[in-house]
Amino acid sequence: MPDTETGPNHVAIIMDGNGRWAQMKGKPRLFGHHAGAKRVKEIVRACPDLGVKYLTIFAFSTENWKRTQAEVSGLMSLFRRYIKGEMKDLIQEGVRVRFIGDRPRLDDKLIKMMDDLEKVTAQNEKVHLTIALNYGGRDEVSRAVKEMARDAALGTLDPETVDETTLTRYLDTRVLPDPDLVIRTSGEARISNFLLWQSAYSEYEFIDTLWPDFTKDVFAECTARYATRDRRFGAVKV
Ligand code: IPE
Ligand code: IPE
Ligand code: MG
Repeated sequence: MPDTETGPNHVAIIMDGNGRWAQMKGKPRLFGHHAGAKRVKEIVRACPDLGVKYLTIFAFSTENWKRTQAEVSGLMSLFRRYIKGEMKDLIQEGVRVRFIGDRPRLDDKLIKMMDDLEKVTAQNEKVHLTIALNYGGRDEVSRAVKEMARDAALGTLDPETVDETTLTRYLDTRVLPDPDLVIRTSGEARISNFLLWQSAYSEYEFIDTLWPDFTKDVFAECTARYATRDRRFGAVKV
């Protein structure tokens, strides 16, 4: 008997395949990124019906700076455009937006927009949308450990008391539950530095669909499959 019939409370998605989607259509990669950004709205809107309270999406990794300058700056302007264009609907639809990742490396204008979007949606609680932007799991853990070391040096953290819960409190995701289900689109079976600590016991769905083709029906199929799984967390069911 699966113990997950209720569906996942927190779904995290590695939105991959925008570039290949565009390439297949003979278009530039940024065309795929724009199509991908449009998909986000439908998926966020589908959450309440699927019982998904927390949705975390991987928008830009700490490794994505390795791409061409044109692609990186195109993505950054797409993020600004998304925030500006979606703010009103997100407020109205009860979506609380948070960003995780290393913010200081982003440009000041974008950081300000991210801060504002978090502020104006802070009272919402229908869906918790977390956008991972300049996010890397190893980077996040390194920053957390740096903060812990500082606090230990200041005397506000006793090293002897440090345990898993302590580290969890220093992560960008400190207010979020761990993801129950991680979906990666585009056929790649790797996690590419996404939520390394948090997904220790997550269920995974690696699906072939490219992100711009990921509809709410495909999303519903993923959450339905999740509901048939048996999560044991290392224990033996009796
Ligand atoms: C995912 O699509 C979006 C980002 C990483 C920003 P890709 O751009 O990685 O698309 P593919 O993997 O090249 O097809
Ligand atoms: C992961 O996709 C990052 C995002 C979806 C933002 P990538 O396309 O960057 O991952 P790799 O390079 O194939 O591992
Ligand atoms: Mg990719």
